[in-house]
Amino acid sequence: MKAILGSDHAGIAGRKEAVRLLRERGWEVQELGPEGDPEKADYPDIAHQVAQSVISTESEMGVLVCGTGQGMAMTANRYRGARAAVITDPFTAEMSRAHNDANIACFGERVVGAETIRQLLAKFLDTPFEEGRHMARVDKIDQVIGEA
Ligand code: RB5
Repeated sequence: MKAILGSDHAGIAGRKEAVRLLRERGWEVQELGPEGDPEKADYPDIAHQVAQSVISTESEMGVLVCGTGQGMAMTANRYRGARAAVITDPFTAEMSRAHNDANIACFGERVVGAETIRQLLAKFLDTPFEEGRHMARVDKIDQVIGEA
């Protein structure tokens, strides 16, 4: 099981917590992003790499951490087949997997903090996609209308 994780400078501690959790659970982990001050990264540069790895199936799942999680998700969701969810609470963690089959979990370290990111990611990992009626809805996500 391969996962790819990335953060900018605002999400280093959360990314490290997520890496620890995944390694404890036996995942092979690829990690992108700065290691600490004064190193910085622009969140889109990281999110592009993570989304590309997930949609190519090189990685089964991705985790992205920045200040809010928002810029990471905005970037990752530009890719057809990427389903990046900004997760702020246990219900969102569960539903983004159960109903949306999210394949990239995005977190805001400045919103929830590193320890909560670990707990929310655990919920995300423990929740399977329910399939059934949700399959056709998830397929519709990639039907882009008005594409150039
Ligand atoms: C960095 O200061 C911050 O803008 C970034 O981490 C993120 O919150 C963007 O969505």
